[in-house]
Amino acid sequence: MKKKTHIKLHSSHLSLLLISLFIGFCSCEQHSISSHGGLTDQEVLYIKQRQLLYYRDEFGDRGERVTVDPSLVFENPRLRNAYIALQAWKQAILSDPFNLTGNWVGSEVCSYTGVYCAPAPDNKKIKTVAGIDLNHGDIAGYLPEELGLLTDLALFHINSNRFCGTVPHKFINLKILFELDLSNNRFAGKFPDVVLKLPKLKFLDLRFNEFEGTVPKELFDKDLDAIFINHNRFRFNIPDNFGNSPVSVIVLANNKFHGCVPSSLGNMSGLEEIILMNNGFRSCLPEEIGLLKNLTVFDVSFNKLMGPLPDKIGEMISLEQLNVAHNMLSGKIPASICKLPKLQNFTFSYNFFTGEPPVCLSLQDFDDRRNCLPARPLQRSAAQCKSFLSRPVDCSSFRCAPFVPSLPAPPPPSPPIPVPSPPVVVPSPS
Ligand SMILES: *[C@@H]1O[C@H](CO)[C@@H](O)[C@H](O)[C@H]1NC(C)=O
Ligand SMILES: *[C@@H]1O[C@H](CO)[C@@H](O)[C@H](O)[C@H]1NC(C)=O
Ligand SMILES: *[C@@H]1O[C@H](CO)[C@@H](O)[C@H](O)[C@H]1NC(C)=O
Ligand SMILES: *[C@@H]1O[C@H](CO)[C@@H](O)[C@H](O)[C@H]1NC(C)=O
Repeated sequence: MKKKTHIKLHSSHLSLLLISLFIGFCSCEQHSISSHGGLTDQEVLYIKQRQLLYYRDEFGDRGERVTVDPSLVFENPRLRNAYIALQAWKQAILSDPFNLTGNWVGSEVCSYTGVYCAPAPDNKKIKTVAGIDLNHGDIAGYLPEELGLLTDLALFHINSNRFCGTVPHKFINLKILFELDLSNNRFAGKFPDVVLKLPKLKFLDLRFNEFEGTVPKELFDKDLDAIFINHNRFRFNIPDNFGNSPVSVIVLANNKFHGCVPSSLGNMSGLEEIILMNNGFRSCLPEEIGLLKNLTVFDVSFNKLMGPLPDKIGEMISLEQLNVAHNMLSGKIPASICKLPKLQNFTFSYNFFTGEPPVCLSLQDFDDRRNCLPARPLQRSAAQCKSFLSRPVDCSSFRCAPFVPSLPAPPPPSPPIPVPSPPVVVPSPS
């Protein structure tokens, strides 16, 4: 009899929990389940998993409660914090097919698989967790808020796993995080704004996830060296400050960006690789791309670009790979492009080009199929060319922002120009 009420109590507890989950809110208290009462182990496990899946912190993020066994001895308090973070993470893991976290037990966190320790940057005498690398782990789970306790983390690499949910807000505490690689996981939701607040971040890789919505323009004012946000569901116009970004590599491919290929590109003098393929860009190519002397890879294929290829592309002296295929470009290919000293592969198939200088035919690799090129094989039909080319393209109709070059520091203000005094008419002596 007694046992029964016990169960009843617990199951009402459970349904309360479930109700609270249903309305999207759950108390952060961990329900005491140390003495199992009348619950079977299965029921305990069930409750634990429910709690694990539906805990919400003040931001609506998920985290875990970790208690530290008082018998554990830690080399220093930072490693104790790391223990809490990693145990919370282990609890947030639902599948670990390679058993990578199997040895995440006990106080020696520096010997856990995928966890790398180094002397703390601010105190070389103590050891601290400096890196996490669980790349290609195929782990399913999510990132708990407790990871914010890893305040000395410089590298966080979890590419090719099955982590889902969002990026914890407490990542804001990772003040020296340098490389963040969340690529090829199942993260979803808005762009993780917390990455904008990481002062030391240089390498941001969010590619192959399910992030959606806009990308905050602040991203392009950050001192990043690489931005990979391809293969998500981002949708927006590239903002005016795009050209402020000091990146050497930026990949926006396979999203739903639209609008102009920005002329502010001309300000990105350190750019080495830009891949804008398979978006919805609709404009002419700005001639300012000719200013990109260090660019080796330029790929704008599979967009809706129109108009001619600017002659200035022939000034991009480092260019090796140029792909403008699958657009609506027209006009004659400038010979200067095919004469670029390092150009290896020039793909311009599936456009409406009408002229191709002979020098282009001697490139190592090129693809000119499906254009309107006289005397070349595999071109579009005469009717298709005629119909498309009968409508001239007006590049100004796309209303793209004009280019304002970045100037060296402004000269000191010049002294005020003296106001000329009115002419004084001196009566001439007579
Ligand atoms: C996972 O690894 C731990 C520690 O290395 C080991 O004790 C455990 O048996 C492993 N589990 C499986 C399922 O292989
Ligand atoms: C290029 O950079 C300068 C400042 O460095 C800025 O004033 C200008 O607007 C930028 N040009 C574009 C087109 O963004
Ligand atoms: C361009 O590349 C050269 C040679 O690699 C390098 O010295 C130079 O700093 C680069 N320019 C910029 C603006 O990064
Ligand atoms: C040239 O570039 C195109 C488009 O990126 C690619 O499909 C092709 O494989 C490249 N050719 C070589 C030989 O790398």
